[in-house]
Amino acid sequence: MAILVTGGAGYIGSHTVVELLNAGKEVVILDNFSNSKPEVLERIKEITHKDFKFYEIDYLEREKLEKVFEENKIESVLNFAGYKAVGESVKKPIEYYTNNISGALVLLDTMRKYNVKRFVFSSSATVYGNPERVPITEQSKTGGTTNPYGTTKLFIEQILKDIYTSDPTWDIAILRYFNPVGAHESGLIGEEPQGMPNNLMPYIVRVAAGILPELSIFGNDYDTPDGTGVRDYIHVVDLALGHLKALDKLEKEGKGLFIYNLGSGTGYSVLEMVKVFEKATGKKVPYKITPRRPGDIAKCYADPTKAKQELGWQTTKTLEDMCRDSWKYIEKNTK
Ligand code: NAD
Ligand code: UD1
Repeated sequence: MAILVTGGAGYIGSHTVVELLNAGKEVVILDNFSNSKPEVLERIKEITHKDFKFYEIDYLEREKLEKVFEENKIESVLNFAGYKAVGESVKKPIEYYTNNISGALVLLDTMRKYNVKRFVFSSSATVYGNPERVPITEQSKTGGTTNPYGTTKLFIEQILKDIYTSDPTWDIAILRYFNPVGAHESGLIGEEPQGMPNNLMPYIVRVAAGILPELSIFGNDYDTPDGTGVRDYIHVVDLALGHLKALDKLEKEGKGLFIYNLGSGTGYSVLEMVKVFEKATGKKVPYKITPRRPGDIAKCYADPTKAKQELGWQTTKTLEDMCRDSWKYIEKNTK
């Protein structure tokens, strides 16, 4: 029996595939390389010394997707495929709603056809909008997303709840990621944003590498200890392991729709991040303070208690580990 990983060549998918293979699971990957490269697949094999089946398809192509289910004994699906750039989603709402929502619907409908009803979905802390209070629990209010990307996550969560209500034989885990950063300790796989990075860590590593001149810190007048934005950064390997724990719960206990925050529970400011990065890598990160970025919130960090209690999962890697591993990846992969 195999686990189908859609978007398995991407940043979080590839790290999760490594952990699945290390745990002895059979994996089938599907990806159309719209935001990843085929080399990643070789890198996964180099890290794990294990093999897997791969399909280069768009998961909106129903017939090709059905072939994957025909040719393999799929028992669970981890759905990482989707577009994720917030700014781009504002400019291309139709592309985002189509790829993320229609894609998920085609996938779920195909799963139903082949009677595969175990599903893990990559959601995001973005579904909480501007949270009323931190730390954020799973009971916190959702909604108020400010861009099509965030709204696709909110809508897909609702679709999954409705599917579960209509047919409780589904086993579904909705995982709300906080801010994934870092890379595999081998430096072989990591995050590869196309074009100019928008997120903090990819920007910092490029400044440290001299690819970009300086970091712009978006605002130092927030209601936070040093005035800069506070976020819950989570090492991508910890995040990957969270998926294995969620899958484990669905396999062993099943029958339910479960929602978990995957975060460390600790918030760090942008200035703290810069300081820790410089200490962990010995590299300077020149910065300037610029106006706030529209749509940004002051503080966002998780209460990860539920995942700890119900999944036996918690983060183990530190912010230093995240900085060091992000840096190692860029050093190894920038010519
Ligand atoms: P990523 O872009 O690195 O990976 C997504 C993968 O899906 C890519 O390899 C891409 O080629 C593939 N893909 C996209 N559309 C496809 C399609 N139609 N058919 C087949 N493959 C397709 O992104 P990631 O950072 O690994 O994120 C994975 C998931 O987690 C996404 O759903 C994302 O929205 C969600 N998420 C990411 C973050 C983050 O900060 N990285 C935070 C919260 C949630
Ligand atoms: C971003 C997304 C969010 C997504 C999350 C997941 C936006 C508006 N939001 O959130 O939907 O779920 O990533 O990873 O893109 N910062 C700077 N300078 C920079 C980049 C960032 O100061 O060049 C600051 C931001 O203001 C913020 C912090 O760094 O305070 C983290 O920013 P980022 O990495 O973009 O993540 P989020 O804003 O949390």
